[in-house]
Amino acid sequence: MTSALQITGGVPLEGTIEVRGAKNFVPKAMVAALLGSTPSVLQNVPEIKDVKVVTDLVALHGVEVNNDGQGALTLDPSNVTRARYADIDAHAGDSRIPILLCGPLLHTLGEAFIPDLGGCKIGDRPINYHLDVLRNFGAKVEKLESGIKMSAPNGLHGAKVELPYPSVGATEQVLLSATRARGRTELRGAATEPEIMNLIAVLQKMGAIITVQTDRVIHIEGVEELKGYNHRAMCDRIEAASWGSAALVTGGSIFVKGATQSDMMTFLNVFRKTGGDLDIRDDGIQFSHPGGSLNPLVVETDVHPGFMTDWQQPLVVALTQADGVSIVHETVYENRFGFTRALKGMGANIQLHRDCLGSTPCRFGQSNFVHSAIISGRTPLKAKDIHVPDLRGGFSHLIAALGAEGRSKVTGVELIQRGYERFTSKLEALGANFDVVDA
Ligand code: EPU
Repeated sequence: MTSALQITGGVPLEGTIEVRGAKNFVPKAMVAALLGSTPSVLQNVPEIKDVKVVTDLVALHGVEVNNDGQGALTLDPSNVTRARYADIDAHAGDSRIPILLCGPLLHTLGEAFIPDLGGCKIGDRPINYHLDVLRNFGAKVEKLESGIKMSAPNGLHGAKVELPYPSVGATEQVLLSATRARGRTELRGAATEPEIMNLIAVLQKMGAIITVQTDRVIHIEGVEELKGYNHRAMCDRIEAASWGSAALVTGGSIFVKGATQSDMMTFLNVFRKTGGDLDIRDDGIQFSHPGGSLNPLVVETDVHPGFMTDWQQPLVVALTQADGVSIVHETVYENRFGFTRALKGMGANIQLHRDCLGSTPCRFGQSNFVHSAIISGRTPLKAKDIHVPDLRGGFSHLIAALGAEGRSKVTGVELIQRGYERFTSKLEALGANFDVVDA
């Protein structure tokens, strides 16, 4: 993978690209394969770093993984085994996936290990909900110098769990732990993102009994055995929306093959409110700049069915090109506006605030977190050398450079590869003007 891109901005991105399986679903489905007694087949798998990390991690635990090179992964969990802590640590990289391996490993081996976890630096990203969930199911949690050791010599049992916040990861933790636990589980305060519904679909194919009720309540009846699944991963709705914002920022028109309307309704409404043109088809969505001016917006990020926090950063770049004042209130992560510093350096007019500048006060309102932004547009963007801070912030820097006048050097682009499959080939297909250079 390249380490720097020299981008000459000002060229509208135009053409067709394809987006494959979701970064925030595929790794979880790969982990679910460990719960089966027979091999699973997962299709539409993208070539991104997170898939490679999870492949290495499950392989370390004895899962035989076969990639056909066309996007189909076969995962055979017949010989799941213990792995050395140092190896888990070395292979986990920045990934938070080891925490989700705990339930399946506790069922099969009676123990699991979590090294110090990484992931994008977008707030504290604690794992307290996960640890509480696992304790509820009967796991013993022991802090070691190198990480956290879990054990459940007598297996896991069903439990009543109430999450303080509808966390995506903690909901997945419950699903992956409860399906093979003894007895029933009731989860209150569950997250209901499409990625979670897709994971439930996978688990149901495997033989699980999971009922999703109203008001964020999920019931799971534990079963003794699950078999393998065959499933096509849902499209990455974060990547799809990111390209939609790229079309707005560069004044272009991008057909995103694979983009699925039902998973993106909230984004599509916001896109249309900015004045963007949409053509929603069965095989994908065309996102186009209208050609005139864009409208400013008031947007709050939220859990599903709200506006995703991961849609926020590329949209903020588009809002620098809208005529008027936009307000964005981030309510999912306390620290997700760091990327705006580089945008300000490129000429954007963005003010950050500690107050909740939305209609609903959020968890961060009484704390000292800078989690609201006022964006005044329209401000032409000027080229700047930028170092990518995290995945979504990095993609937004990339599209800012593509929309800016002049030549920018963007370093640290490997981070973008964590979640955007072959993005340089896609940029080429869309007519972007860039060169791959030494960092
Ligand atoms: N939280 C806690 N304690 C926990 C877990 C979460 O306080 O034990 C808090 C977090 O700090 C955050 C909130 O709960 O403020 C929501 O976090 P959540 O658990 O929902 O996030 P996650 O499961 O760690 C996934 C995605 C994120 C995405 C969020 C929200 C994956 C691998 N990651 O993270 O994706 O932003 O859900 O939708 O699925 C990305 O793709 O760039 C990304 C960061």
